Amino acid sequence: MHRGSLFRSTPFRLALTFGFLFVAAFAISGVVTYQLLARELAGALDASVSEIYSVTSTAYGVDDVEDLVSTINAYTGLSNSEDRVFSLVDRDGKRLAGNFTPPALPDGLSTVTAPQIGLSGDTIYRVNNGTIGGYRLVVGQSFTETDDLQEIALVSFGWALVITIAVAIAGGAFLASRAQRRMDGIARTMIDVSNGQLATRIPLHGRKDDIDEVSMQINQALDRLSGLVEGMRQVSADIAHELKTPLNRLRLTIEEAASRSEDRPELHSLMTDALAESDQLNATFEALLRISQIEAGSRRTRFQPIDLAAIMATVADIYGSVAEDNAQTLRLEALPDDPAMLRGDRELLTQLLVNLVENAINHCPAGTVISLGLARHGSEILATISDDGPGIPAAERDKVFRRLYRLDKSRTTPGNGLGLSLVRAISDLHGAEIRLEDNAPGLRVSMTFPSATTS
Ligand SMILES: Nc1ncnc2c1ncn2[C@@H]1O[C@H](COP(=O)(O)OP(=O)(O)OP(=O)(O)O)[C@@H](O)[C@H]1O
Ligand SMILES: [Mg+2]
Repeated sequence: MHRGSLFRSTPFRLALTFGFLFVAAFAISGVVTYQLLARELAGALDASVSEIYSVTSTAYGVDDVEDLVSTINAYTGLSNSEDRVFSLVDRDGKRLAGNFTPPALPDGLSTVTAPQIGLSGDTIYRVNNGTIGGYRLVVGQSFTETDDLQEIALVSFGWALVITIAVAIAGGAFLASRAQRRMDGIARTMIDVSNGQLATRIPLHGRKDDIDEVSMQINQALDRLSGLVEGMRQVSADIAHELKTPLNRLRLTIEEAASRSEDRPELHSLMTDALAESDQLNATFEALLRISQIEAGSRRTRFQPIDLAAIMATVADIYGSVAEDNAQTLRLEALPDDPAMLRGDRELLTQLLVNLVENAINHCPAGTVISLGLARHGSEILATISDDGPGIPAAERDKVFRRLYRLDKSRTTPGNGLGLSLVRAISDLHGAEIRLEDNAPGLRVSMTFPSATTS
């Protein structure tokens, strides 16, 4: 798939959107969970500090501070100051027990740093400050344990987020590319069908999912469509088969009648007119059938590498004298030095150039200069047939490709309005783009063919 069209692909955009939503939902729930955990840990720490305070303070007997002092000293000796701190001071602020001398602190719970309570390091403590029998008792516990737990939670969450993003990207890319492959299969089938390969069908996955369901319906529609087209082709072929012989017999009969009526000039002239009409009828009939056959696309299987420059030179050679007889000039402009190779059907490409040259000869007055040219543009071959005759008005340029369409001014010239329809059918069959342009004055027909190297 083309890189630029990746972002226009629906499966890719859906995968990207859902991947983003998935990761965002995970991140939001992670943040909420972390906040709840932090609040829970802070509450637990407060409860723990309050409990240590109340357990310690039970050692105080009325007017007897000795037990409390020894309890605190015992606790202080047992615990690490990085972890728990204790302090008991008398009314004068003199430390009686513990491992620090507290500054002025609010009653109850508060948070202090190690330097604030005269300790070294950067530990932060949650302390409980109170008075018992005139003595001030302060106990505290560091945030180290709480911080450690929070850090573990944060690191786990970070890893989980990385894994989630990786899974979202890998899963999204896998699902998107799978869906995209099936979309591409549908698109390829439709391109083949529009190029005339009506037998192509969308490959089914076999799971009977929604894409299979749609594909099956498209395939059924294609079955009906190809049935109809085949039916029409068959009818055309049958008509051609059935009418060809009677039309030819009719022509022979008229010809016979014309030759036998030579002694009756009035009848003979009518018979000659009827013969001309019959010829016109045959020509129109055959041209219509030929266009339908070309549009069916089956001739594509006979495509071969062909040098368009050689065909153009042959057509110019043959029609040079026809133009001369008409007091017109046919010129072959410089052709590329190397062959202009494309994959195609020699007979049809000759017919295409002949139709365009005949148009210029038939629809332009004496003195017209007709030029044939060929140029290479990168991987494309550009063929042009131009004249300096009356040209085709811009509003009519699309219409002249329709079957049987002729400009009003051409009603008197011979022809049946099928030449350009055939040209369009042949150029479509070869994957060429055809344009009618103003040659100021005159008409320029440009055709861009893909060259054989790129097809
Ligand atoms: N080179 C041209 N200059 C001016 N008008 C043109 C030229 N080529 C075609 N046309 C106009 O386009 C119309 C359609 O052309 P097309 O080749 O389809 O039919 P036709 O030439 O009239 O008949 P046919 O080609 O079937 O014998 C012509 O009738 C003519 O009016
Ligand atoms: Mg014509």
